[in-house]
Order: sequence, then C-alpha cells, then structure tokens
Amino acid sequence: MMSAGEEVRSVVLTGYGGYECLKVKPWPIQALGAGDVRVAVAICGVNFSDLYTRQGMLRELQPPLVLGTECVGEVTAVGAAVAHIKVGDHVLCYKFTGGLYRDHVVVAASHCFVLPPGMSYEDSAALPANYLTAYFCVHDIGHMRAGQSIFISSCAGGVGWAATQLACSAGDVTIFGTCSPEKHDAVRENGVTHPLTYDGYEQELLKHSPDGVDIIIDNMASSAFTINQRLLKPLGRIVVIGANSMVTDSQKFGWWSFLRLWWSTKNVSARDLIMQNRVVAGLHLGLLMERQPNTIQSAMSHLFQLYEQGKIKPHIDSIWPFDKVVEAMRLLAERKNVGKVLLRVETADK
Ligand SMILES: NC(=O)c1ccc[n+]([C@@H]2O[C@H](COP(=O)([O-])OP(=O)(O)OC[C@H]3O[C@@H](n4cnc5c(N)ncnc54)[C@H](OP(=O)(O)O)[C@@H]3O)[C@@H](O)[C@H]2O)c1
Repeated sequence: MMSAGEEVRSVVLTGYGGYECLKVKPWPIQALGAGDVRVAVAICGVNFSDLYTRQGMLRELQPPLVLGTECVGEVTAVGAAVAHIKVGDHVLCYKFTGGLYRDHVVVAASHCFVLPPGMSYEDSAALPANYLTAYFCVHDIGHMRAGQSIFISSCAGGVGWAATQLACSAGDVTIFGTCSPEKHDAVRENGVTHPLTYDGYEQELLKHSPDGVDIIIDNMASSAFTINQRLLKPLGRIVVIGANSMVTDSQKFGWWSFLRLWWSTKNVSARDLIMQNRVVAGLHLGLLMERQPNTIQSAMSHLFQLYEQGKIKPHIDSIWPFDKVVEAMRLLAERKNVGKVLLRVETADK
C-alpha cells in the first residue's frame, strides 16, 4: 500500500527538447483525494501529443512533469466520494495534461472508464486518445452516413486507424487516406478504399472523386489545411485535430515552424465558408473531457459496445518495456508505426 509522498517509477520530462530530456526515475505520487482512484498500471498508450509536449509545443505544461495521457490497470484504492468504481476493477484512464506514465497513478475517477468483462488491457489502452478522437470526428462533427466519402490524413496511425473503422461502420463508404507507401497494404486491409501518398494526394483524390469528399480529418494543419478545404464537396465538413507538420526533428519545436503554421491556418473567412457551403471545425478531446465528462463517458460506452460487436478492433503496432519509452516514441516521430504503440509496465507487486 502506498502513501502520499511516496515515489513511484515514472517517465519524467526534465525540460523541453530531445529524447535526452526523458528520464525513467522515481517521482512523487500525489495523495488520494476523495474523488480519486489509485491504479496499478499495466499498459500505457503512446500518443503524438507526447512528442508535442516533449518538444514544448504545449507551453501550458511546464517541466519537470510526468508524461503520458492514457493508461490501463487495476484499481487498488478508491477515495471516499467515489461510488462507481471499486477496488479490483480494471479501468482505463485518460488525462490530456499527462502524468500517467508511471507504474502507479492517482487519477480523478471522472477520468476513468471501467472496462467491460473480457476486454484486454492491450486493446483498451488503444481506445481513449485514438478512438474517442476518431469517434467525435466521424460521428458527432462529421455525421458520416452510408454512401458518403471521407479523407483521413495519416490513416495508418492510431487515430487514422480508428477513424477508418468507425467510418466503415456507417456502411457503403469511400475512404481516402494518406500514409507512407509501405503501409498501403495494411490500411487497405483495414478498410481504406484508396490509400494515397502525401505527394500529390489532392490530384489523385480528385481523379477518383472529382467533386471531392464529404468529410476530412486533418492532422497536418499547415498548407494542407488550405488544400484540404478545396477537396470538400458542398456541405462538406473538415475537422482539424493536430499539427503533425510541426514535428520536424527530435529537438525543441522551432518558432519558424510555429509561425508558418499560424500563417497558413489564420484565414478562415466567413465569406468563403458561406460561398463554399462548407463547415470548418476543430476538436480538442482533452478540453472536451474537462468541460463535458458525461459526453465522453457516453461515447466510450458506445465504443465498448462497438468493440463487443466486433465493429472496431485496435491494431497494436508494438508493445515496449516501460524503460524503452524513447524507442516507442521514436516510432511515431519517424513515421514507422501502423496503429497503436504501447508501453508495458512490469512491477513486482502486481
Ligand atoms: N485534437 C485532439 O483531441 C487529438 C487527440 C488525439 C490525437 N490528435 C492528433 O492526431 C494525430 C495522430 O495522433 P496519433 O497519436 O494517432 O499518432 P499516429 O498517427 O499514430 O503517429 C504518427 C503518424 O503520423 C504520420 N505522420 C504524418 N506526418 C508526420 C510528421 N511530420 N512527423 C511524424 N509523423 C507524421 C506518420 O505516418 P505516415 O507518415 O506513414 O502517415 C506517423 O506514423 C496527431 O496530429 C495528434 O496530435 C488530436
């Protein structure tokens, strides 16, 4: 049993910069509050946002801090005010401000989801950031329906993989997606109708679908944001979720990249939106969770149902020992992953 002030093995970001700023070391765990649960962590999910945080794109997160936005494990203690979670439950935790890459976590119960019986730790760890993000893009904002088309950038990544499956669940859809050429067979098997390369994808897409597509999930921002808007059909919806183009090397993010990004995305003109009959939207899953936790809980319940019905199935790219967090993060930065990258936490007392 742990007490406040005790230290647990954690992935600590010691400053903004390259991989040398990541240290696996003991770090204090906070006291269990009335609304919290304590979890013995089994698996953590690696996300692109970990790269942003390490490189200093999210200035509101100041190092030193413990990295990690999602984990899964067994509840070992619950606060006095927690009613819906009990000791022994298997839970999935999501917290966009991080702090979850550690072998034990204390986290608000409102940031936890009790796993349905029979769901593996590995599959569940792939759900929060990837599948919830894809869910809101495809369903809530995208309103994907049978007969429609979607373009998913980075369709072989965690969010892209999930978005493909959720789009397929609408039935009779056409899916375009960009990724590295060596991943094209894998994404086709996952349901992408037309895998595309990043070079010249817009011309290729228009060859197949001259009117464009109904929905776009854009995680590049930059100049692609302008190009992508031109690929929308009238009444089409584009959802911006990230800025992969900001990750150009392994070091701190550069102010030039930031300015380029700002410049290329600053003009969303109301007049153009009206004239083009288009919807430009954004999604920030973490902030949505802070403001509307019930919306997130009900989306996750729906994802659990889709999983039980066999309509979604995370693809696990690889599972790394906790100490190999740098190698795991490199896979995303170096564009090598297909689907989800995980860290396995092994401790003697679990
Ligand atoms: N707004 C939100 O709430 C929210 C929540 C979760 C994730 N996201 C965003 O969704 C995107 C996907 O996140 P993820 O965690 O699922 O990551 P991921 O897609 O699994 O990993 C990154 C993949 O993106 C592709 N990529 C494209 N351009 C890249 C670049 N410049 N540098 C590195 N990789 C690049 C690479 O594959 P290919 O080159 O082969 O395509 C790479 O394998 C990210 O932009 C992330 O910030 C947003």
